[in-house]
Amino acid sequence: MISESTFLLLIAIWTGIGVCTFVLLHFVTAPFGRHSRTDWGPTLPNRLAWIIMEFPPVSLFPLLFFVGPTEKTSLHYLFFALYFGHYLYRDLVYPFRIRTSGKRMPWAVCASGVFFNLVNASILGGWLGWFAHFDASWWTSPQLIGGLTLFFAGFLLNFHSDNILIGLRDGDDTGYRIPVGGTFRWVSCPNHLGEILQWAGFALAAWHPAALSFAVWTAANLLPRAVAHHEWYLREFPDYPPERKAVLPGIW
Ligand SMILES: NC(=O)c1ccc[n+]([C@@H]2O[C@H](COP(=O)([O-])OP(=O)(O)OC[C@H]3O[C@@H](n4cnc5c(N)ncnc54)[C@H](OP(=O)(O)O)[C@@H]3O)[C@@H](O)[C@H]2O)c1
Repeated sequence: MISESTFLLLIAIWTGIGVCTFVLLHFVTAPFGRHSRTDWGPTLPNRLAWIIMEFPPVSLFPLLFFVGPTEKTSLHYLFFALYFGHYLYRDLVYPFRIRTSGKRMPWAVCASGVFFNLVNASILGGWLGWFAHFDASWWTSPQLIGGLTLFFAGFLLNFHSDNILIGLRDGDDTGYRIPVGGTFRWVSCPNHLGEILQWAGFALAAWHPAALSFAVWTAANLLPRAVAHHEWYLREFPDYPPERKAVLPGIW
Protein backbone atom coordinates (compact mmCIF):
# COMPACT_ATOMS: atom_id res chain seq x y z
CA MET A 1 0.00 0.00 0.00
CA ILE A 2 1.21 3.53 -0.76
CA SER A 3 2.13 6.01 1.97
CA GLU A 4 -0.16 8.91 2.84
CA SER A 5 2.30 11.46 1.39
CA THR A 6 2.37 9.59 -1.95
CA PHE A 7 -1.44 9.42 -1.86
CA LEU A 8 -1.64 13.20 -1.35
CA LEU A 9 0.88 13.80 -4.15
CA LEU A 10 -1.20 11.70 -6.56
CA ILE A 11 -4.32 13.66 -5.58
CA ALA A 12 -2.48 16.95 -6.23
CA ILE A 13 -1.43 15.73 -9.70
CA TRP A 14 -4.97 14.55 -10.49
CA THR A 15 -6.39 17.91 -9.35
CA GLY A 16 -3.86 19.73 -11.57
CA ILE A 17 -4.97 17.61 -14.55
CA GLY A 18 -8.55 18.64 -13.70
CA VAL A 19 -7.61 22.32 -13.95
CA CYS A 20 -5.96 21.70 -17.37
CA THR A 21 -9.10 19.81 -18.47
CA PHE A 22 -11.19 22.85 -17.55
CA VAL A 23 -9.17 24.92 -20.05
CA LEU A 24 -9.25 22.16 -22.71
CA LEU A 25 -13.04 21.75 -22.48
CA HIS A 26 -13.49 25.35 -23.59
CA PHE A 27 -12.11 24.27 -26.97
CA VAL A 28 -13.46 20.69 -27.20
CA THR A 29 -17.05 19.90 -26.16
CA ALA A 30 -17.63 16.27 -25.14
CA PRO A 31 -19.74 14.86 -28.02
CA PHE A 32 -22.79 13.42 -26.27
CA GLY A 33 -26.39 14.59 -25.93
CA ARG A 34 -27.03 17.68 -28.10
CA HIS A 35 -23.30 17.91 -28.94
CA SER A 36 -23.21 14.39 -30.48
CA ARG A 37 -20.97 13.98 -33.53
CA THR A 38 -20.41 11.16 -35.99
CA ASP A 39 -16.61 11.49 -36.28
CA TRP A 40 -15.63 10.15 -32.83
CA GLY A 41 -15.56 6.48 -33.82
CA PRO A 42 -17.84 3.59 -32.85
CA THR A 43 -20.82 4.29 -30.61
CA LEU A 44 -23.03 2.47 -28.13
CA PRO A 45 -26.60 3.14 -26.90
CA ASN A 46 -26.75 6.19 -24.64
CA ARG A 47 -28.54 4.43 -21.77
CA LEU A 48 -26.01 1.59 -21.71
CA ALA A 49 -23.15 4.12 -21.83
CA TRP A 50 -24.47 5.86 -18.69
CA ILE A 51 -24.75 2.54 -16.84
CA ILE A 52 -21.17 1.56 -17.79
CA MET A 53 -19.69 5.01 -17.05
CA GLU A 54 -21.20 5.30 -13.59
CA PHE A 55 -20.38 1.72 -12.53
CA PRO A 56 -16.98 2.24 -10.74
CA PRO A 57 -18.47 4.37 -7.93
CA VAL A 58 -21.00 1.63 -7.11
CA SER A 59 -18.48 -1.24 -7.32
CA LEU A 60 -14.84 -0.20 -6.81
CA PHE A 61 -15.64 2.52 -4.25
CA PRO A 62 -17.54 0.25 -1.78
CA LEU A 63 -14.92 -2.47 -2.28
CA LEU A 64 -12.09 -0.11 -1.25
CA PHE A 65 -14.19 1.34 1.56
CA PHE A 66 -14.89 -2.04 3.17
CA VAL A 67 -11.53 -3.69 2.43
CA GLY A 68 -9.55 -0.74 3.81
CA PRO A 69 -8.27 -1.12 7.38
CA THR A 70 -9.50 2.15 8.94
CA GLU A 71 -11.82 1.73 11.86
CA LYS A 72 -15.11 3.04 10.43
CA THR A 73 -16.99 5.66 12.43
CA SER A 74 -20.39 7.24 11.76
CA LEU A 75 -18.57 10.01 9.84
CA HIS A 76 -16.94 7.45 7.52
CA TYR A 77 -20.39 6.02 6.83
CA LEU A 78 -21.82 9.49 6.26
CA PHE A 79 -19.33 10.30 3.46
CA PHE A 80 -19.73 6.78 2.10
CA ALA A 81 -23.51 7.22 1.91
CA LEU A 82 -23.34 10.63 0.20
CA TYR A 83 -21.08 9.50 -2.66
CA PHE A 84 -22.42 5.95 -2.98
CA GLY A 85 -26.08 7.04 -2.77
CA HIS A 86 -25.59 9.66 -5.48
CA TYR A 87 -23.99 7.17 -7.84
CA LEU A 88 -26.48 4.40 -7.08
CA TYR A 89 -29.12 6.76 -8.43
CA ARG A 90 -26.93 7.88 -11.35
CA ASP A 91 -26.06 4.32 -12.39
CA LEU A 92 -29.27 2.39 -11.79
CA VAL A 93 -32.14 4.90 -11.87
CA TYR A 94 -31.19 7.98 -13.94
CA PRO A 95 -30.38 6.04 -17.17
CA PHE A 96 -33.90 4.57 -17.11
CA ARG A 97 -35.59 7.94 -16.49
CA ILE A 98 -34.07 9.90 -19.38
CA ARG A 99 -35.88 9.81 -22.74
CA THR A 100 -33.03 8.76 -24.93
CA SER A 101 -34.37 6.04 -27.29
CA GLY A 102 -32.18 5.63 -30.34
CA LYS A 103 -29.50 8.06 -29.10
CA ARG A 104 -25.91 6.89 -29.03
CA MET A 105 -22.62 7.92 -27.43
CA PRO A 106 -19.08 7.39 -28.79
CA TRP A 107 -17.18 4.60 -27.02
CA ALA A 108 -14.34 7.11 -26.58
CA VAL A 109 -16.55 9.35 -24.41
CA CYS A 110 -17.85 6.35 -22.43
CA ALA A 111 -14.26 5.13 -21.87
CA SER A 112 -13.14 8.56 -20.66
CA GLY A 113 -16.14 8.61 -18.28
CA VAL A 114 -15.15 5.18 -16.94
CA PHE A 115 -11.55 6.34 -16.44
CA PHE A 116 -12.74 9.54 -14.68
CA ASN A 117 -14.93 7.52 -12.32
CA LEU A 118 -12.28 4.84 -11.71
CA VAL A 119 -9.79 7.45 -10.53
CA ASN A 120 -12.30 9.35 -8.38
CA ALA A 121 -13.70 6.15 -6.85
CA SER A 122 -10.12 5.03 -6.07
CA ILE A 123 -9.22 8.35 -4.47
CA LEU A 124 -12.38 8.60 -2.35
CA GLY A 125 -12.44 4.88 -1.50
CA GLY A 126 -8.71 4.98 -0.69
CA TRP A 127 -9.16 8.02 1.53
CA LEU A 128 -12.11 6.58 3.51
CA GLY A 129 -10.70 3.03 3.57
CA TRP A 130 -7.09 3.82 4.48
CA PHE A 131 -6.41 7.39 5.57
CA ALA A 132 -9.52 9.15 6.94
CA HIS A 133 -9.57 9.75 10.69
CA PHE A 134 -12.39 11.83 12.17
CA ASP A 135 -12.86 13.25 15.62
CA ALA A 136 -16.47 12.96 16.84
CA SER A 137 -16.42 16.76 17.39
CA TRP A 138 -16.40 17.11 13.57
CA TRP A 139 -20.18 16.50 13.66
CA THR A 140 -20.69 20.00 15.08
CA SER A 141 -18.01 21.80 13.05
CA PRO A 142 -19.10 24.75 10.84
CA GLN A 143 -17.43 23.03 7.86
CA LEU A 144 -19.55 19.90 8.21
CA ILE A 145 -22.81 21.74 8.88
CA GLY A 146 -22.22 24.28 6.07
CA GLY A 147 -20.95 21.58 3.71
CA LEU A 148 -23.93 19.28 4.25
CA THR A 149 -26.33 22.20 3.77
CA LEU A 150 -24.64 23.04 0.48
CA PHE A 151 -24.57 19.38 -0.55
CA PHE A 152 -28.32 18.88 -0.05
CA ALA A 153 -29.22 22.26 -1.58
CA GLY A 154 -27.13 21.31 -4.64
CA PHE A 155 -28.69 17.86 -4.76
CA LEU A 156 -32.23 19.30 -4.73
CA LEU A 157 -31.35 21.83 -7.43
CA ASN A 158 -29.77 19.13 -9.63
CA PHE A 159 -32.61 16.65 -9.14
CA HIS A 160 -35.41 19.18 -9.64
CA SER A 161 -33.78 20.65 -12.75
CA ASP A 162 -33.07 17.22 -14.28
CA ASN A 163 -36.76 16.40 -13.65
CA ILE A 164 -37.86 19.50 -15.57
CA LEU A 165 -35.57 18.53 -18.49
CA ILE A 166 -36.80 14.92 -18.52
CA GLY A 167 -40.41 16.19 -18.47
CA LEU A 168 -39.83 18.18 -21.69
CA ARG A 169 -40.14 14.98 -23.74
CA ASP A 170 -42.96 12.45 -24.22
CA GLY A 171 -42.55 8.82 -25.20
CA ASP A 172 -39.87 8.31 -27.86
CA ASP A 173 -39.47 12.06 -28.54
CA THR A 174 -35.79 13.09 -28.46
CA GLY A 175 -36.17 16.74 -29.58
CA TYR A 176 -35.27 19.87 -27.61
CA ARG A 177 -37.44 22.66 -26.14
CA ILE A 178 -36.71 25.79 -24.12
CA PRO A 179 -36.86 24.73 -20.46
CA VAL A 180 -38.95 26.92 -18.16
CA GLY A 181 -39.72 26.96 -14.44
CA GLY A 182 -37.57 26.67 -11.35
CA THR A 183 -34.11 28.21 -11.64
CA PHE A 184 -34.22 27.92 -15.46
CA ARG A 185 -35.55 31.47 -15.11
CA TRP A 186 -31.98 32.59 -14.38
CA VAL A 187 -29.66 30.02 -15.96
CA SER A 188 -29.66 27.51 -18.83
CA CYS A 189 -28.09 24.68 -16.79
CA PRO A 190 -29.26 24.69 -13.15
CA ASN A 191 -28.74 20.90 -13.10
CA HIS A 192 -25.02 21.45 -13.68
CA LEU A 193 -24.92 24.28 -11.14
CA GLY A 194 -26.62 21.99 -8.59
CA GLU A 195 -24.09 19.23 -9.16
CA ILE A 196 -21.18 21.67 -8.76
CA LEU A 197 -22.65 22.98 -5.47
CA GLN A 198 -23.27 19.44 -4.27
CA TRP A 199 -19.64 18.36 -4.57
CA ALA A 200 -18.33 21.71 -3.34
CA GLY A 201 -20.44 21.06 -0.22
CA PHE A 202 -19.03 17.53 0.03
CA ALA A 203 -15.48 18.93 -0.14
CA LEU A 204 -16.26 21.52 2.53
CA ALA A 205 -17.81 18.91 4.84
CA ALA A 206 -14.95 16.42 4.29
CA TRP A 207 -12.18 19.04 4.50
CA HIS A 208 -9.73 16.79 2.68
CA PRO A 209 -7.88 17.06 -0.69
CA ALA A 210 -9.50 13.79 -1.85
CA ALA A 211 -12.94 15.39 -1.78
CA LEU A 212 -11.61 18.73 -3.07
CA SER A 213 -10.16 17.02 -6.16
CA PHE A 214 -13.59 15.61 -7.03
CA ALA A 215 -15.22 19.03 -6.59
CA VAL A 216 -12.58 20.61 -8.87
CA TRP A 217 -13.11 17.93 -11.52
CA THR A 218 -16.90 18.29 -11.38
CA ALA A 219 -16.64 22.05 -11.95
CA ALA A 220 -14.00 21.49 -14.66
CA ASN A 221 -16.39 19.19 -16.53
CA LEU A 222 -19.65 21.03 -16.00
CA LEU A 223 -18.85 24.76 -16.25
CA PRO A 224 -17.62 24.48 -19.89
CA ARG A 225 -20.46 22.04 -20.70
CA ALA A 226 -23.02 24.53 -19.37
CA VAL A 227 -21.47 27.32 -21.47
CA ALA A 228 -21.59 25.05 -24.57
CA HIS A 229 -25.27 24.23 -23.83
CA HIS A 230 -26.09 27.92 -23.40
CA GLU A 231 -24.43 28.91 -26.68
CA TRP A 232 -26.27 26.04 -28.40
CA TYR A 233 -29.65 27.34 -27.05
CA LEU A 234 -28.85 30.85 -28.31
CA ARG A 235 -28.02 29.45 -31.79
CA GLU A 236 -31.03 27.12 -32.01
CA PHE A 237 -33.80 29.27 -30.49
CA PRO A 238 -34.09 32.89 -31.76
CA ASP A 239 -36.65 33.57 -28.98
CA TYR A 240 -34.36 32.26 -26.20
CA PRO A 241 -34.74 34.46 -23.06
CA PRO A 242 -31.92 37.03 -23.43
CA GLU A 243 -31.53 37.67 -19.69
CA ARG A 244 -30.73 34.01 -18.95
CA LYS A 245 -27.06 33.20 -18.15
CA ALA A 246 -25.29 29.85 -18.69
CA VAL A 247 -24.74 28.57 -15.15
CA LEU A 248 -24.07 31.32 -12.58
CA PRO A 249 -27.13 33.61 -12.13
CA GLY A 250 -26.39 37.16 -13.28
CA ILE A 251 -22.70 36.42 -13.88
CA TRP A 252 -21.81 33.70 -16.45
N1 LIG B 1 -19.85 15.00 -11.87
C1 LIG B 1 -19.59 15.24 -13.17
O1 LIG B 1 -18.45 15.55 -13.52
C2 LIG B 1 -20.69 15.14 -14.20
C3 LIG B 1 -20.35 15.10 -15.57
C4 LIG B 1 -21.39 15.02 -16.51
C5 LIG B 1 -22.72 14.99 -16.10
N2 LIG B 1 -23.02 15.02 -14.78
C6 LIG B 1 -24.43 15.02 -14.36
O2 LIG B 1 -25.16 14.08 -15.13
C7 LIG B 1 -26.46 14.60 -15.49
C8 LIG B 1 -26.62 14.59 -17.01
O3 LIG B 1 -25.64 15.43 -17.57
P1 LIG B 1 -25.83 16.02 -19.05
O4 LIG B 1 -24.67 16.90 -19.31
O5 LIG B 1 -26.19 14.93 -20.01
O6 LIG B 1 -27.16 16.93 -18.82
P2 LIG B 1 -28.09 17.63 -19.90
O7 LIG B 1 -27.37 17.82 -21.17
O8 LIG B 1 -28.69 18.83 -19.24
O9 LIG B 1 -29.23 16.53 -20.18
C9 LIG B 1 -30.00 15.94 -19.17
C10 LIG B 1 -31.15 15.15 -19.85
O10 LIG B 1 -32.18 16.05 -20.28
C11 LIG B 1 -32.29 16.04 -21.71
N3 LIG B 1 -32.41 17.46 -22.11
C12 LIG B 1 -31.53 18.43 -21.81
N4 LIG B 1 -31.95 19.64 -22.28
C13 LIG B 1 -33.11 19.39 -22.92
C14 LIG B 1 -34.04 20.23 -23.65
N5 LIG B 1 -33.81 21.53 -23.77
N6 LIG B 1 -35.14 19.67 -24.19
C15 LIG B 1 -35.37 18.32 -24.03
N7 LIG B 1 -34.54 17.48 -23.35
C16 LIG B 1 -33.42 18.01 -22.81
C17 LIG B 1 -31.02 15.40 -22.22
O11 LIG B 1 -31.22 14.79 -23.50
P3 LIG B 1 -29.99 14.55 -24.53
O12 LIG B 1 -29.01 13.65 -23.81
O13 LIG B 1 -30.67 13.89 -25.68
O14 LIG B 1 -29.40 15.88 -24.86
C18 LIG B 1 -30.72 14.41 -21.11
O15 LIG B 1 -31.51 13.25 -21.25
C19 LIG B 1 -26.55 16.02 -14.90
O16 LIG B 1 -27.27 15.96 -13.69
C20 LIG B 1 -25.10 16.39 -14.64
O17 LIG B 1 -24.99 17.27 -13.54
C21 LIG B 1 -22.03 15.09 -13.83
